[in-house]
Amino acid sequence: MSIDDVKVLISNEEVEKRIKELADQINKDYAGKQLTLLCILKGSVFFTTALAKHLAPDTELEFIEVSSYGSGTTPGDIKMLKDTRDSIANKDVLIVEDIIDSGRTLKYLVDMLRNRKPSSLELCTLLSKPERRKVDIDVKYFGFEVPNKFVVGYGMDVDEVFRNLDYIGYIEE
Ligand code: IMP
Ligand code: MG
Repeated sequence: MSIDDVKVLISNEEVEKRIKELADQINKDYAGKQLTLLCILKGSVFFTTALAKHLAPDTELEFIEVSSYGSGTTPGDIKMLKDTRDSIANKDVLIVEDIIDSGRTLKYLVDMLRNRKPSSLELCTLLSKPERRKVDIDVKYFGFEVPNKFVVGYGMDVDEVFRNLDYIGYIEE
């Protein structure tokens, strides 16, 4: 895989502009509350930090890591690799995801996290591929709907590379 195979889908300027809009909406919706952003490693780390920079200064950060895919795009079993450091009980939690594809990863996570009794639990994803959805997911905030292409950059990888591109690209097939 070479960087020459990556075409621009959404430029850095467009991504950052949209993230600022999402943050403005989140700040309004959570006014008077203390928000905990729950970043899903590794793919959401760029989106989470970009979003957090525009959010209220008392915003807390937690991280979990799940593996839903091996290399490539074939779904496998979902495994918890790293859990939050602190309890999320009685917190207003916003799960931050890079992309919702089938929706299976988030379905698994939401079901698991609800059992821990947060005050509220909502979802924010940078990208959504609606054509690929296999399970119903209630997403409160999303950045962009994208076509059924394999996307990379802004946290998203193919075989662990291209996460650090500052734009969202897709792999030409
Ligand atoms: P889901 O469980 O099928 O919704 O898969 C979601 C996860 O798969 C995302 O959090 C990504 O890590 C990964 N994923 C799905 N589609 C893509 C893609 O086009 N590029 C990179 N990663 C993807
Ligand atoms: Mg992910």
